[in-house]
Amino acid sequence: MTSPTRETGTHPVVAIDGPAGSGKSTLSRALAARLGIERLDTGAMYRSVAWAALRDQIDPSDLEAVAGVAQNLTIEVGDRVVADGTDITEAIRGPEVSAAVSAVAANPAVRAVMVERQRSWVALRGGGVVEGRDIASVVLPDADLKLYLTASPEVRAARRSEEGAEAVARRDRLDSTRAASPLEVADGAWVIDTGSNSVEQIVEEVLTWL
Ligand code: CDP
Repeated sequence: MTSPTRETGTHPVVAIDGPAGSGKSTLSRALAARLGIERLDTGAMYRSVAWAALRDQIDPSDLEAVAGVAQNLTIEVGDRVVADGTDITEAIRGPEVSAAVSAVAANPAVRAVMVERQRSWVALRGGGVVEGRDIASVVLPDADLKLYLTASPEVRAARRSEEGAEAVARRDRLDSTRAASPLEVADGAWVIDTGSNSVEQIVEEVLTWL
């Protein structure tokens, strides 16, 4: 399971990208558990910034003000998500944050702050499974394994039924068409349809590519 290019004593770096409801969290959790390494949900970081902007009554499209929020916000992403000392694990999945997050994530200054923190997270651990939208394309272009997850719009909307199909489609449109690090299939990424196989089957197959 050791890639020839990996330094001794380090863990693999796995980048997982894909649209809303494509199965990133489920697969990244399962893969991290199998590999015995940690997992970082970068979507939770952008959601935390959106939460903090709403907390501070800042318009999510106010680039400068939201960039300031991102710079000053402490974010801990693990089993729970804690920002500025407040447990926001549930709050960041709510409709207000979901509706605001794509505008916040389109802000290049916010992305610069988050990308730096994400790279530091990986460097500190010597590897990990990192999931998001721009992980293979921007954050970790040298990842040992790059996965791009897809599923039909129907399957993805069903997985995000509490958010609603229209809101999910809007978020995907904003994430794919923004100028700064849009969601796209990175060079060298394996494209996986998570609607047709079980998590276990996908994990087994993916491990053979590492
Ligand atoms: O779980 P789901 O796929 O629905 O969303 P998420 O991974 O929690 O990400 C929430 C939002 O954060 C996305 O809709 C993007 O706008 C943004 N995001 C991003 O721009 N870049 C990332 N690496 C991760 C998330």
